Amino acid sequence: MEVCVIGVGYVGLVTTACFAYTGNTVTGVDDDGEKIKLLQQGKLPIYEPFLDELVTQAIDQGRLRFTGDLEEGIRRCQVVFICVGTPPLEHGDADLSSVESVTRRIGEVAEGRKLIVEKSTVPVQTGFWIEKTLRLYGRGEMDRFDVASNPEFLREGSAVEDFFHPDRIVVGVEKPEAEQLLRSLYDPVIRGTFQCPVHGACPRRGEVPFVVTDMVSAELIKHASNSFLAMKISYINLIADLCERVGADVSMVAEGMGLDRRIGRAFLDAGIGFGGFCFPKDLQAFVRIGEIHGCDLGLLREVERINKERIDVVHRKLKDHLWNIRGKIIAVLGLAFKPNTDDIRFAPSLEVIQRLLKEGARVRTYDPKAMPKARKVLESVEFCGDPYEALDGADAAVIVTEWEEFKRLDLGRVKQHMRRPLIIDGRNIFDRKLMESLGIEYRGIGH
Ligand code: UDX
Repeated sequence: MEVCVIGVGYVGLVTTACFAYTGNTVTGVDDDGEKIKLLQQGKLPIYEPFLDELVTQAIDQGRLRFTGDLEEGIRRCQVVFICVGTPPLEHGDADLSSVESVTRRIGEVAEGRKLIVEKSTVPVQTGFWIEKTLRLYGRGEMDRFDVASNPEFLREGSAVEDFFHPDRIVVGVEKPEAEQLLRSLYDPVIRGTFQCPVHGACPRRGEVPFVVTDMVSAELIKHASNSFLAMKISYINLIADLCERVGADVSMVAEGMGLDRRIGRAFLDAGIGFGGFCFPKDLQAFVRIGEIHGCDLGLLREVERINKERIDVVHRKLKDHLWNIRGKIIAVLGLAFKPNTDDIRFAPSLEVIQRLLKEGARVRTYDPKAMPKARKVLESVEFCGDPYEALDGADAAVIVTEWEEFKRLDLGRVKQHMRRPLIIDGRNIFDRKLMESLGIEYRGIGH
């Protein structure tokens, strides 16, 4: 199939490369000229495991190209995915102006019949607005367009794997033709008939559920799923605080809860809380959607509040041990909002560091991938070449991201390097008893 993806950020870029991999001819369009120039040379503006190889390979095979010209990009395609950004506005609403302008342009310039698919995270009823806009600007020829919603559930750091092995594919459609087209586009993923670029030969797990709904329900599935996952994290973080007060261990509690199949163990890792460009923004947007439609989603406001307080929890632990922050050297290990990505948007690390700097600490930091991006937003921080350099002479270390590299640290060396071997582990990556047996002062979360 000829596919066009408009907006090649995290979601769009993964979508271009993965659809090219499953045998389609894909054009990625973006109005960021610098980004397009980089991509045309096969260089990626983001780090995402396996993506580099997929993009380079697809470009070499002539299956993937990038352009800044939307008209040229959509000329030959049957399906257009809208993956442009929907950043938060002041009150939490998603800014949909890019979705509108792209839709308008499609209406004005598209020739022939096309399926327009919204993939950006958008409020309910955006699909209807897209339809309306196409009708208004599409020279009165609405019959040329079908509209569908196909929310993405890709996690950064494992987006390629998630694309090829999703738990489900959700499509919201108004017409059976749209369902058919999307079903055949996703057919290799649904039936697992491709050589997996992540695992090579993967065990067949049966067909991936292909969930077909109306457009509004598909839009809601996305928001409702993300908010539910965020709620699980805040819930376990509440329990973690209680565990500390009563002498229980949150990891054991999470294991015990998670074995109940109705609950599940995933997203019950207590810690410094969730960050990233999805959960915090989507949660706010969902609360606003509720307000607009007269439905109080106060439960989700609580989820947000609990998450914000996670920074206080970690900060308090540091203060409890250090007495004063001013003048202390603090190593912050991990800047990315989670491992295997260089993304620092809404990362807890930024807040932790800002607070420490404000209170007069000297902050030294290391992250395997996120330092180039962090350098652009963090001032007065020492960026180090490896974790040991960051720990050198430190009065305390705070672990903010659970990178594999940190789990494999030589703890003897850690102890030698630090002025005071005190570790506040915001992701519970170490065993408390082991740390104590090594003479390291150790505070995790919920233990
Ligand atoms: C999320 C959704 O998972 C994905 O389906 C959607 O498409 C985009 O938003 P992402 O933001 O990439 O994906 O990361 P995710 O793995 O969901 O983690 C989000 C945050 O929650 C991270 O900061 C992570 O550290 C935190 N988290 C996750 C916890 O604190 N505890 C957990 O148990 C799980």
